[in-house]
Amino acid sequence: MDDPSLPQEKSLDRMKRQAGYHAAGMVEDGMVIGLGTGSTTFYAMERLAFLIEEGLRIQGVPTSFQTEMLARELRIPLTTLDTYPELDLAIDGADQVDPSLRLIKGRGAALTREKCVAAAAQHLVIIVDASKCVGALDGPVPLEVIPFALHPVILGIRALGGIPELRSGIRKDGPVITDNGNFILDCSFGSIDEPERLEGILTLMPGVLSCGLFCEFVEKSIVVVGSEDGCRELKHVDLTG
Ligand code: A5P
Repeated sequence: MDDPSLPQEKSLDRMKRQAGYHAAGMVEDGMVIGLGTGSTTFYAMERLAFLIEEGLRIQGVPTSFQTEMLARELRIPLTTLDTYPELDLAIDGADQVDPSLRLIKGRGAALTREKCVAAAAQHLVIIVDASKCVGALDGPVPLEVIPFALHPVILGIRALGGIPELRSGIRKDGPVITDNGNFILDCSFGSIDEPERLEGILTLMPGVLSCGLFCEFVEKSIVVVGSEDGCRELKHVDLTG
């Protein structure tokens, strides 16, 4: 039976649509933007496709095969970081957002390209439903790890007190293989007291391509939190006064 204290599927979808459509409305004519990955980004892209039909001219850099395929389906013009190493903004989802706008990302295993695009963007617009906002980051932190280094990295995570779990495929036997040909280790640390410090340590492990903690973009981030009947924007400047 459904837990009545949790928002139901349809309600979550409404919240995601609110956030996604709001973010699409922030995109201006002529912009080159990063297109994140996931079910909330889907709604931003759906709205962008509509706005493009209405005359909006933009180009997008996709962060995954999924997003690239969806963009082609929706006729959103695509480009690359080779052509545009600097982007006007990036729109992306997140798995958890804390009150300082630090994130955990990577449920869809697209974290490496998402981090590249976030770093290249002047502004990062994170779109989430209200269930993603937490008091402290405590979800599993995805790491993209090159297969060669899997076991040393597992030992390293255990030495930090974390519990690493190799992500398995659904409708595929064995591990998930990322768009870059690597494995994903989901690493549980409980409540994360110092996310920046942990991100630094994990990112420096040999064989770790990237880490799902996103702490370095808070100053250029706007988090759009969708609710059933609207959304609110959270910005770093508002938090720091
Ligand atoms: C992809 O790897 C992830 O970082 C997603 O952006 C994140 O998991 C949010 O996805 P949803 O919008 O589907 O929740």
